[in-house]
Amino acid sequence: MAKYKIAWLPGDGIGIEVLEAAKIVLDKLNLDAEYIHGDIGWEFWCKEGDAFPERTIDLLNNVNAAMFGAITSKPVKAAEAELIPELKGKGLVYRSPIVRMRQLFDLYTCLRPIKAYPGNPLNFKENIDIVVFRENTEDLYSGVEFNPVPEELRDLLLKISKPFSAFKDIPLDRYAISCKINTKKGSEKIICAAFNFAKKFGRKKVTVVHKANVVRATDGLFFETAKEIAKDYPGIQLDDANIDAMTMWLLKNPFNYDVLVAPNLYGDIISDLCAQMVGGLGFGCSGNIGDKLAVFEPTHGSAPKYFGQYKVNPIATILAAKMMLDWLGEKDMAVKLENAVAEVIKEGKVRTYDMGGNNKTLEMANEIASKL
Ligand code: NAI
Ligand code: MG
Repeated sequence: MAKYKIAWLPGDGIGIEVLEAAKIVLDKLNLDAEYIHGDIGWEFWCKEGDAFPERTIDLLNNVNAAMFGAITSKPVKAAEAELIPELKGKGLVYRSPIVRMRQLFDLYTCLRPIKAYPGNPLNFKENIDIVVFRENTEDLYSGVEFNPVPEELRDLLLKISKPFSAFKDIPLDRYAISCKINTKKGSEKIICAAFNFAKKFGRKKVTVVHKANVVRATDGLFFETAKEIAKDYPGIQLDDANIDAMTMWLLKNPFNYDVLVAPNLYGDIISDLCAQMVGGLGFGCSGNIGDKLAVFEPTHGSAPKYFGQYKVNPIATILAAKMMLDWLGEKDMAVKLENAVAEVIKEGKVRTYDMGGNNKTLEMANEIASKL
């Protein structure tokens, strides 16, 4: 029996191509793993009305970790679902399987390392080395949303919230409400994860990203929790910044930042900004990490316009595989893989289109594998 069971979730579009590339390097490393395919994505929503079928959930309950490619996600309303023959009459509304996966398996940490590998022509500046901890299950992504707004909710809000009176005369179908829900426990978990990481890897500063001066209840809770937790980590500086100012400071001086921690939405935004500073979507890798399961993925989507061409950059996914090796405790393999990626980037002989080259997805993977 193999040492590890890995769920293998290619998903849609280029997700399939980049996972094929990741498999090349993992095979070259001889990771003692059984890779088990799982169905996920748009295709299954259209066929079965479920983009994240029960059998895939069962699979994830029985593996050590998962590699996930990307999915095609569309905001389909019930009326549009009626137009898909297989789904007609079922009253279904599309929900992102990724958000569901994160909530179902409590993958509360979204870890995104942001590193400028020397020689990458896409680096915004050299020597950037930031790690983003994004809360992954709560906040504006909690899925509690209303459009149209139910009458009971409006009446309740009118009773208990003064500022809400500004909306009292708007017809219920002419506005929408999305709830930003942040819990003390959820905030503690992600903030502790960030501080533990800083401690383990000798990082000096944790910057909390928020907007507590305006969004006082939720972001206030997050920031206050960070202040409490920071007391337990005397060697590590607690820093904070408003999300809007943060986007500016990050561009101006990325070297001021070390570890960032943020609620879900702000974390999503800054991690994309950070990813662009070190090469963009072809380099952005991410781990969705819980206490029992972790799912590793490139941060990009299914890029339908490139699907079938095998031309996108697989480095993001290969770096996600490196993160998986770290999570599994295969430190030597992880270091070896990262060094191989760094070497190929530095040599600059093999480059995909985004890096200004003509090489294909699997050529890049084979070049990296040749260094292992
Ligand atoms: P996308 O990330 O799929 O692609 C946007 C553009 O980024 C591409 O057209 C391409 O120019 C570039 N790009 C992406 N990956 C690349 C790579 N590996 N190498 C080089 N260039 C790359 O975003 P888009 O087009 O907005 O969304 C397409 C679909 O993906 C949508 O249905 C969206 O909902 C979904 N999506 C899924 C995500 C996931 O599965 N985690 C994340 C983001 C979007
Ligand atoms: Mg994103």
